[in-house]
Order: sequence, then structure tokens, then C-alpha cells
Amino acid sequence: MNKHPRVCVVGSINMDMVTTTKKMPKQGETVLGESFKTYPGGKGANQAIAAARLGANVSIIGAVGDDTFGRSLLTHFQSEGIDQEGIQVIPNISTGIATIILSENDNRILVSSGANAKLTPEIVNDSHELLLASDVILLQFEIPMETVQFTVDFAYKHQIPVIINPAPFHEIPEDILKKVTYLTPNEVEFLSMTNMPLFESIKNKMIVTKGEQGVQFVASSGVLETIPAYQVHVKDTTGAGDTFNGALATELGRTKSIDESVHFANAAAALSIGRLGAQGGMPMRKDVTRFIEKVKA
Ligand code: RIB
Repeated sequence: MNKHPRVCVVGSINMDMVTTTKKMPKQGETVLGESFKTYPGGKGANQAIAAARLGANVSIIGAVGDDTFGRSLLTHFQSEGIDQEGIQVIPNISTGIATIILSENDNRILVSSGANAKLTPEIVNDSHELLLASDVILLQFEIPMETVQFTVDFAYKHQIPVIINPAPFHEIPEDILKKVTYLTPNEVEFLSMTNMPLFESIKNKMIVTKGEQGVQFVASSGVLETIPAYQVHVKDTTGAGDTFNGALATELGRTKSIDESVHFANAAAALSIGRLGAQGGMPMRKDVTRFIEKVKA
């Protein structure tokens, strides 16, 4: 068992601008919000933080702008013990921003990609040593698809397991579907994938997060399994999927067992929704193990 697996995330880094409101505004409507705060976010960054808190040695390859948000996010990574050697600071462009509305236990998110859109295959290649040193590589779709393709090719060539969280959803090139180790769509993303030509042949690679309905995946026995969701108090669901992915990568690197990894990630994701901010509720390893034991008892 590898106690501190190396996880490399190639992905987005955002500052989240979060407004809470009792009522979600409808099209053309103005409502008064209740509170506003900025939080570190971005699917890539969130997954990196989740993995680090769960005991992985984490590096991130990404891009921020040369601005106040970018600098503050770099300091944040440092305080979380994440290797940020692979982050490029890009002049004359803003750091990625997510405008988030939280209401009625749900969220709506609008992302302005900023520097994330400038994360080229060349930047990733400049940090290929980080990829080579990894037990697991983790990707999402908030960066250019050619960069995802480059990273998947690299991982495949060097036989490093690679997980793609296909969010926000994009058509996925067939070559990526063939080479990826696991895909972790949520229910909506999964539905968008059902009409893809290769769908039948990649079913075994799918780990579908279904919110309150739990997680569905093909277990190592070959049987389609659904693990129910834990019943927990919901404060903010933003980042629950990211916690799941960071935890999955960490456990896969640690135990090599897909069954154990999905169970652990399901518990970590449940704990993450108890606090505000995508990363606010992301648990430490001891919190997850205690929670699992407590529920079993
Ligand atoms: O998955 C949640 C994340 O999506 C937020 O942190 C936001 O930045 C967007 O990328």
C-alpha cells in the first residue's frame, strides 16, 4: 500500500464569487442576495486540495493571471502543501473566475475561463516530470480539449492511470475514450454520453455520481453496483463532485482497488457539503475514516 500516492492534477484554477440568496433569480428578474464572499475554486484546484487533505502528495499543472486573485490562489496552494511548480502565471489575462449563486441547497455556476483557456499542451509538456512522477493523473474539462488530449496521450504512453471528470460536459474525442482509465460524469453528463458511438465499450470505465442517489460503477467483480449516498446536512454542494474525484484519485493511488476507492470517495464527498465554499468542507483523511466507522457502528 502506497500511503502517500502522488497525484498530478492538470486543470483549472478559479476564484469563486459566491452570493447566497433565498430565491434563485429567474430570467430577467432581479433579487436581493443575502451574503457575498470569495473562495478559492476551479474544478482542478478543488480536486487538488481534496487529494492533498486526504494524504496525497499533490502537484497541479495550471495557469493563473498576473493579478491579485492569481497571487492569492498561489499562496493558498502553498498553505495546503501543494506543489505549484507547474502553475504558469500568464500576463495580460485575468485569473479564472466563477460566479456562483447558492440557493435552496443548490447552485448555479458561470465560469469565465481567463488564464485557464491559455493552458496549452506546451505548458503541460514543460512540466512533464510531474506527470511522470505520478501514480494517478486527474483531468477535467475547464481547460482546452487539446491539452486534455495531450495529457491523456502522455499518460497512456507511460501507463499512468488517468481519471477524467467530464465537467463541464463536452463531446469527448473517441481517442480519449479509448485511452482514459476512468470517467466520472455526474448524472446529467452521463446522459449526454449515452449516445456516443463508443458508449457500450466504455461502460466499465464509468463511475457515475448521482447526488442523492449515490454512485454507480462496475465493481471489480464485473457487477454494476450502486452505493447509496450518505444522509448528511447540506450547506453547500459546490465542490462535492471535486471532493469525490480528489478522493478517488488518492485512494486509487493508495490501494489500487476501485471498490475501496469509490466507497471512500463517496464518504469524503458527503462530508464536503457541510460547509460553505467549494473547498470549505473538504475533509482530512481522519475525518473520513471516523465518519465511515461511525456510520457502520
Ligand atoms: O465544481 C465546482 C467548481 O466549478 C467551482 O469551484 C467553480 O470554480 C467551477 O469551476
